[in-house]
Amino acid sequence: MKRLGVLLSGRGSNFQAIARNVAQGRIEAEIGVVISNRPEAPGLALARELGLTAVAIPSRGLDRESYDRLLLEELAKHNVDLICLAGYMRLLSATFVRAYPLRILNIHPSLLPAFPGLDAQHQAVSHGVKFSGCTVHFVDEQLDAGPIILQAVVPVLDADTPDTLSARILAEEHRIYSEAVSIVLAGKFRLDGRRIVTS
Ligand code: GRF
Repeated sequence: MKRLGVLLSGRGSNFQAIARNVAQGRIEAEIGVVISNRPEAPGLALARELGLTAVAIPSRGLDRESYDRLLLEELAKHNVDLICLAGYMRLLSATFVRAYPLRILNIHPSLLPAFPGLDAQHQAVSHGVKFSGCTVHFVDEQLDAGPIILQAVVPVLDADTPDTLSARILAEEHRIYSEAVSIVLAGKFRLDGRRIVTS
């Protein structure tokens, strides 16, 4: 059985959606460990409630390389095959990314490469785009930039605020993140340049 490692910093609703799909057998894997850089993250409490191994590794005072070394040690301890970033609000070092080639996924609440970085839904509303959505992609050494696995599109309505748009996008995030995890775990893709071709 393949093992997932989840990294999160906050609410954890994407983690929750993945955990539900694992529990219901729609994702053929087990969750080996859930790690947060924020001990008070609601997502970490949720992991504990679900009876999963939940570990807080506070990042305060540590430089990126030292912190990521701790993360790598913890993930190795739990024999993690695939890492899912689920609202993990820290950049990963090159050392970390290179340790798990094509084995780290992230979800971002925009149609990348539009609106990378923080507050993507706010960026979309203020830019005035008519459609936005979410992207599941492999993590490389740049922010929100790795090969795209799946995207989903939602309309941006005239009355939208960043909050209403976020809610519409989030429903799609919960759907496509699990789908992408299944594709990757099953090895049903190949990399062609920077295109992910699913099979
Ligand atoms: C989501 O919008 C995700 O796309 C972004 O951070 C948010 C995390 O939400 N990377 P949650 O913690 O999964 O509820």
